[in-house]
Amino acid sequence: MAMVCLSDFEAYAKKYLPKIAWDFFAAGADDCSTRDENILAYKRIHFRPRMLRDVSMMDIRTKLLGTKISFPVGIAPTGFHQLAWPDGEKSTARAAKAMNICYIASTYSTCTLEEISAAAPGGLRWFQLYIHRNRAVSQQLVQQAEALGFQGLVLTADLPYTGKRRDDVRNGFCLPPHMKLKNLEGAFEVCKMSSSFHSLHCLDPSVTWNDIYWLRRLTRLPIIIKGILTKEDAELAVRHGVQGIIVSNHGGRQLDGGPATIDALVEVVEAVQGRVEVYLDGGIRKGSDVLKALALGAKCVFIGRPALWGLAYKGEEGLQDVLRILQDEFRLSMALAGKCFAGCLVLVIQRFCKQ
Ligand code: FNR
Repeated sequence: MAMVCLSDFEAYAKKYLPKIAWDFFAAGADDCSTRDENILAYKRIHFRPRMLRDVSMMDIRTKLLGTKISFPVGIAPTGFHQLAWPDGEKSTARAAKAMNICYIASTYSTCTLEEISAAAPGGLRWFQLYIHRNRAVSQQLVQQAEALGFQGLVLTADLPYTGKRRDDVRNGFCLPPHMKLKNLEGAFEVCKMSSSFHSLHCLDPSVTWNDIYWLRRLTRLPIIIKGILTKEDAELAVRHGVQGIIVSNHGGRQLDGGPATIDALVEVVEAVQGRVEVYLDGGIRKGSDVLKALALGAKCVFIGRPALWGLAYKGEEGLQDVLRILQDEFRLSMALAGKCFAGCLVLVIQRFCKQ
């Protein structure tokens, strides 16, 4: 089967992954409106392409907080990569390094942070944190990530409790006994974890903006906050001294009925006024989606499920295939829109129209 676009990897993953793993990856909250809206919203946004602008030399590189990356796509934090491929997050780290992009490793990785670092030394990696009720557990993880050379700390803000993902509840989802949340071993009993609303008792639902100050005291890493959808929270994030904001609704897995991330991006970018970098995840499936997000002010986007589909296809190689396709499509979309530099894409879309 020729793998031509990201949907081909989705079809492969759906066909070959065990149902319980596929359902977990695909899940959205409740009736999945926000998950689906993340994708549909791109179809309502249109380019104003310009012609005859010499696009013979294309430069799609950019920087993330000062570090060069080969193109403005990274890998969003997702848990349990061993459900997709036996080497799990080690394969993800290798693919990201080979493509010279950023990989955000999840608190819920099935490999340890040491294993992830050793698999791809020198790769650009950020660590994603869920704050644990036992703060000592989170403190230790943050400090370990910093010591291992992770270059950013991503605080996920949209999961005080896990959203209600119906298929996971129906399937009684939990990790197979041979897989572990390796970074949290001993911190809680993994197999008691299911994806139902009441699960994950170990995460701290009392987290507030003040906890950014707590994190600031623990680490010198830049702090990026993930899960922001409004101008009010964007302003609070800037005031609390974060270095970056990821506009995200957790792939539609948390509050169903919230906005598509590409729609929320505009108000966040307007509020932030360039004071910190703004990124986006959710629903990126084509190079032209990346271009739309950058044109509306994102510095970089991140992919969640498509990375898992790539892993399910052929591990590290499959994930590289996904990234290469996205890179080629992005370059082509830029050229066809009349733009040569990924660094200055704002205004490719001058009219933000909803049909
Ligand atoms: C996630 N996401 C997520 N986010 C996070 O901060 N920590 C995590 O451990 C996870 N785990 C996770 C697992 C799975 C299976 C999915 C699909 C998602 C959310 C993720 O970082 C990102 O916000 C979305 O996946 C982006 O949407 P797309 O690209 O999947 O449409």
